[in-house]
Amino acid sequence: MDTFSCDVLVVGGGGAGLRAAIAVAETYPNLSVTVISKVYPMRSHTVSAEGGAAAVIKSGDSLDEHAYDTISGGDWMCDQDAVEAFVREAPDEMLQLEHWGCPWSREPDGHIAVRPFGGMKNQRTWFAADKTGFHMLHTLFQTSLKYDGIRRHDECFVTKLLMDDGRCQGLVAIEQATGKIQAITAKAVILCTGGCGKIFPFTTNASIKNGDGMALAYRAGAALKDMEFVQYHPTGLPFTGILITEATRAEGGWLLNKDGYRYLQDYDLGTPQPKPVLRSMELGPRDRLSQAFMKEQEKGRTIKGPYGDYVHLDIRHLGAQVIDTKLPFVRELCLKYAGLDPVKEMIPVRPVVHYMMGGIHTDIHGATPMPGLYAAGEAACVSINGANRLGSNSLTELLVFGARSGKAAAAFASGQRAPNPSVLAQAQDEQRRLEGHFLHKTGGTERIATLRVAMQDIMEQSAGIYRDASALRQAVTKLGQLQERFHNLALDDHSYTFNTELTSALELSYMLDLAQVIIASALQRQESRGSHQRNDYPGRDDGKFLAHSVAYRAQDGSPRIEYLPVKITRWPPGQRVYGR
Ligand code: FUM
Repeated sequence: MDTFSCDVLVVGGGGAGLRAAIAVAETYPNLSVTVISKVYPMRSHTVSAEGGAAAVIKSGDSLDEHAYDTISGGDWMCDQDAVEAFVREAPDEMLQLEHWGCPWSREPDGHIAVRPFGGMKNQRTWFAADKTGFHMLHTLFQTSLKYDGIRRHDECFVTKLLMDDGRCQGLVAIEQATGKIQAITAKAVILCTGGCGKIFPFTTNASIKNGDGMALAYRAGAALKDMEFVQYHPTGLPFTGILITEATRAEGGWLLNKDGYRYLQDYDLGTPQPKPVLRSMELGPRDRLSQAFMKEQEKGRTIKGPYGDYVHLDIRHLGAQVIDTKLPFVRELCLKYAGLDPVKEMIPVRPVVHYMMGGIHTDIHGATPMPGLYAAGEAACVSINGANRLGSNSLTELLVFGARSGKAAAAFASGQRAPNPSVLAQAQDEQRRLEGHFLHKTGGTERIATLRVAMQDIMEQSAGIYRDASALRQAVTKLGQLQERFHNLALDDHSYTFNTELTSALELSYMLDLAQVIIASALQRQESRGSHQRNDYPGRDDGKFLAHSVAYRAQDGSPRIEYLPVKITRWPPGQRVYGR
């Protein structure tokens, strides 16, 4: 086993992880930082974000309005102290990125350009054409290279957190190129591993998004908060699930049913507008748009396709020049993956799992209640997204809370003694587990792909856009059976070099745990709020459920759900109004 040590250990090389590492290096230059990532950082999922990042910059807008849009969009499940910190620090973070070299799109006069985005009443979404995530990640990655204190372990897969004395003191990982086990001790660990969309069959998420950090924290005793809130993005390409950015609608695209009718006018989301305007009904919040699709489907007004029903996204009226300037990636994706040119043809789209509002329970500094353990980005639930995140808040969130968690973890680490060397005994146990249960395992009849597809089907059937107790209860039973079957896995690859069968098996084990948490949290929330719609409990119930669910792993491995109050500072719960 190889052993290393550092002061702050960041897990994940995407936007949140790199921003956190930079914050540590800037605030405490004497601390050593290691970024460990299962992929090369520029392959992290941040790279595929398209539409933009929200922060108040234009006159006529205000921090309070950004806060209010976020809170009402989240159906009052957001912690308002976190939202206030978020909107306040967002503009400086975005400008900081500009100074580090992010090529934000500009107005003709050179000012930063912004576009409207779903559920936002003012224009505040900064963008870099429709490749915003790529440019942000590139900027953060090249900035991180400036700091000698930041060391990287690329393509290393984390299997366990090392906990001792109630404190997180490092982790165990597999170096994928060699299969060698690494034990890395640290005074503080920040989990920035993204979400877990791959628990569902149809998602915009890359195949690396298996909720690794969420599962690691959960197994170590941390709580997962608000996991029942799963966001469907209204416009994914059928079959691949590739995201067709909300920016298409921000620039004036229309959603049409099979009769060519702009059906959203029937769902209290506004009236049809002849040309791009800020409050177009196509720019309603994602939960409402995805629900409207389901209602259209029930009425038989969607189009039947080989990969399920879909509607049309029409951007032809924008013209080639606007599309090529502001939406070049959309044109490229449609040409390559749908075989059509959106300048001339309509794009087939359907709702697709996109984002987890829930995640590792943290405070507004990214700290979990477990000393030494922090989280940021989609892996975390701070919570600013409540029951439904507004598009373009997440890229900014990873900057603001990446930086906050980096600073907080660095301050904690600077006052800590070195990790207890006895934690290395746990690392040896973990090595024995990996070898015994996976690498050297023989026998077994179950296949990873069979179990994964079964899990994804259960999740789509039970925890989709609409849910009810009967389907959720069935899912509890079926997921329990899959957990049993997992022990009977057949693994053929016993090699040490890039053993992707091993990492796929470990990813599946993480996803099974998280699937159980999503289902248990959804079953217990007997109300409808934001992205969590219960057919058997159609109304929002603030009396009982203006509260965060927090899931702990019980002794038998099943989730135990408790509740925490939502922090309300200045905006008492109200109605979400979009159509007027
Ligand atoms: O549609 C989009 O470009 C997605 C943005 C987001 O999820 O924030």
